[in-house]
Amino acid sequence: MAEVPDIKVEPPGPEAKKAVAADDEWLVKATKSWPLVFKKAEGAVIEDVDGNRYIDFYAGVGVLNVGARHPKVVAAVKDQVDKYTHVAGTDFYCQLQNEVAERLAKSIPGDRRMVFFSNTGSESYESAIKIAKWATRKQVIMDFLGAFHGRTTGSMSLTASKWVQREGYTATLMPGVYHVPYAYCYRCMYNLEYPSCAMYCVKAVEDIYFENQIPPSELAAISMEVVQGEGGYVVPPKEFVKGIYELTRKHRCLLIDDEVQSGMGRTGKMWAFEHFDIVPDIVCSAKSLGGGLPLGATIVDAKLAFDRYGRHSNTFGGASLSHAAALATLDVIEEEKLLDRATKLGEKTKKRLEEMQDEYEIIGDTRGVGMMLAHEFVQNRKTKKHASKSRDRITEIAFKKGVMLLPCGRSVVRYIPPLNIPEEQLDKGFDIVEECIKTVDKDRAD
Ligand SMILES: Cc1ncc(COP(=O)(O)O)c(C=O)c1O
Repeated sequence: MAEVPDIKVEPPGPEAKKAVAADDEWLVKATKSWPLVFKKAEGAVIEDVDGNRYIDFYAGVGVLNVGARHPKVVAAVKDQVDKYTHVAGTDFYCQLQNEVAERLAKSIPGDRRMVFFSNTGSESYESAIKIAKWATRKQVIMDFLGAFHGRTTGSMSLTASKWVQREGYTATLMPGVYHVPYAYCYRCMYNLEYPSCAMYCVKAVEDIYFENQIPPSELAAISMEVVQGEGGYVVPPKEFVKGIYELTRKHRCLLIDDEVQSGMGRTGKMWAFEHFDIVPDIVCSAKSLGGGLPLGATIVDAKLAFDRYGRHSNTFGGASLSHAAALATLDVIEEEKLLDRATKLGEKTKKRLEEMQDEYEIIGDTRGVGMMLAHEFVQNRKTKKHASKSRDRITEIAFKKGVMLLPCGRSVVRYIPPLNIPEEQLDKGFDIVEECIKTVDKDRAD
């Protein structure tokens, strides 16, 4: 196997620079991280247009749990291209989407589930909002600070992760939305400590928010990422998620669980909610579901599904190539036992991340579950002031050394390689990550 990482020219090299200039000219600004210009990718290895090879520790922003161009996924898509590429699956019928829907529905315990297919995480979440409002005939949704659900108007309204995502729209976002503190225990918004806090953040929902601001009788749903992603890879205590779930039962509203990032085996379970002994009413999926092709799915308790045709639909929701890829991806997760692998590699990796925290003062917190792992960087462990510039510096040096990292939160780096990354690549990648942290720990950027 060719060596990886292998940096031949300092990135961005000459070809990459040309592509970045063309992007600057023709593409609307979105969320660029580093000037990595793709030539090809396979498994956990990315090659750029200047011949540099990188280890992928960001899995295409959570899309490639089975790795880039998994041979089974590629074969399934090629086979499907020869049959049909589009059926408008919401208007017509095809066995392929039935099969994916059945697999997803059966992956969630309890009563029968049904699936609405779409193209992205935002769209799967938008569909969840529409279904929850229609099914309950109520309009209010409560969510948590730090939440991320997407950038379309509805999903952005429920997002409370970074102001830049909402700036300019705040007066016209969807009404009936409330955000309350999440169990971000490392930075408890009530200044308490777990477990002596006795989960005050759950109690406060009833004692403060339901008393002063949110009429619980009007709640259609409480929505959450059971493990927050973009907000900073925050894993709450089990009692928090259970406590919020119990509130939804008490106040007769639904629980929407956004698993766009945490699902499809990332945490060592098919869905992250399985770590918390709850079963949500609605689960949103996307990212890794399509194995690299765009696919969103809103998986709902069958009792909540729309009562007639025409209330909700789309054009590409039954996208045939994405469904072929999804079926192959579900097979790969089973055949390669990727849930067990995520658990085992996660335990090993978390130990290594904790050892780094013992060594380097700049690491304030190590957290995660399965292979959904992160470090939070701080200027000072007592004040916990965010070390955002140092975090950016670490990811930049890693890029130059050939490991692709992705930030989240205000000063967090997420570590999410494909779940089937070979262990040598995983270890090599973390050797480099550690070198970068060591360098920045000595020479801070903020
Ligand atoms: C939890 C969560 N929900 C929704 C989305 C939006 O997904 P998309 O970018 O595919 O619309 C994301 C994207 O990062 C996400 O992490």
